[in-house]
Amino acid sequence: MYLTPFDLEPDIHVRFYGVGMTITPVASHLLAPARLGSLPLANRLVMAPMTRNRADSDGVPTALMAEYYAQRASAGLIIAEAATPNAVGRTYPDTAAVHRPAHVAGWRRVTDAVRAAGGGPMFLQIQHGGRVGHPDTSGLTPLAPSPVALPGTLHTPRGKQTAVVPREMTRADIDATVADFAAAARNALAAGFAGVEVHSANGYLLHQFLAASTNRRADAYGGSVDRRIRFVVEVVHAVADAIGPERTGLRVSPGNTVNGITEDDTDELYPALLAALADSGLAYLHIAFADPRRPLFGRLRALWPGTLIANPVLPTDRLPADGGRQQAERVLAAGADLVALGRPFLANPDLVERFRLGAPVNQVRDAYLMYVGGPTGYTDYPRLRQG
Ligand SMILES: Cc1cc2nc3c(=O)[nH]c(=O)nc-3n(C[C@H](O)[C@H](O)[C@H](O)COP(=O)(O)O)c2cc1C
Repeated sequence: MYLTPFDLEPDIHVRFYGVGMTITPVASHLLAPARLGSLPLANRLVMAPMTRNRADSDGVPTALMAEYYAQRASAGLIIAEAATPNAVGRTYPDTAAVHRPAHVAGWRRVTDAVRAAGGGPMFLQIQHGGRVGHPDTSGLTPLAPSPVALPGTLHTPRGKQTAVVPREMTRADIDATVADFAAAARNALAAGFAGVEVHSANGYLLHQFLAASTNRRADAYGGSVDRRIRFVVEVVHAVADAIGPERTGLRVSPGNTVNGITEDDTDELYPALLAALADSGLAYLHIAFADPRRPLFGRLRALWPGTLIANPVLPTDRLPADGGRQQAERVLAAGADLVALGRPFLANPDLVERFRLGAPVNQVRDAYLMYVGGPTGYTDYPRLRQG
């Protein structure tokens, strides 16, 4: 009989919420070493980017953030939370930034801590909020492709405020924003990241250019699909020129309606975007909320020649008892190369070990604690085995 190294491990006895249990380790493709271009990864599990509002009021990453990421160093790849490339791109209070020397120094503390904890490579997500921003937070009127306000309210330092109508970006604003993304990417590398992820998902600025509901421009950046993808393609190319395509990833969320965005031509939009970028030699394409049962997933996989990271849709708001492992295995089987998980990593610093052991996962304790400062609900999630 063929034995994997895991078969040779003895059963492990742990206590879970005070109850003793015996766990038999299991082997999995998900946990096998992999590569991202030339970067070796300890496993195929990626920590998805998650904004946690634990930077300081100027967007400088804190020592608490370094501790949080170091706790999760066993992920094959960590994609650190959205960081804004300029002041006007800031979304919410205490979110991270990456456009000033103090931001670079703060992020350096984070990447050093993860390295010291034995972690693998980290990418930093660069996000411009576009209309998802408020003068009470950034001191500036938000910029967007068109003057179409975010429906409803958003968090500001003065509590929830009605979203304001953003200012339509001029050609000069577009060029400056593209340049800010490139400069932010250089800053990320100076801070010790292996690369960056351009955030074109979840209703933020780049997604606002892609979707006709938020892009009503009549110039070269609006109208047809080819024109609506242009800004994203320019940002990706500028970042790739600045730091190298092999250090540049892209995140998209086809069909996602978060932040009030609606696409009426998802099935044309994303194939066109991927076709425009397929030859760029990027580090990866990252699909958020990926559903391998949708035909679009297979089409995008077929169109993308490089590494595909899929963040699978989990079936319920509660985490499945296996932490989403079944969904993770399913997207791998459907052609993804790496699997990104968000909340399972948020609530389980030792998620990789739990997967290896087939152990149950901690639930997210209190959704409110996701976006407030401090260690509670952040760095205090228990491991199966302490020490
Ligand atoms: C607290 C929290 C913060 C998030 N922040 C970001 C972010 O900064 N950038 C991003 O692209 N997605 C963000 N997301 C979405 C996650 O990356 C992920 O796509 C989502 O949680 C679904 O994956 P999951 O079911 O494994 O959690 C966030 C999600 C959560 C729960």
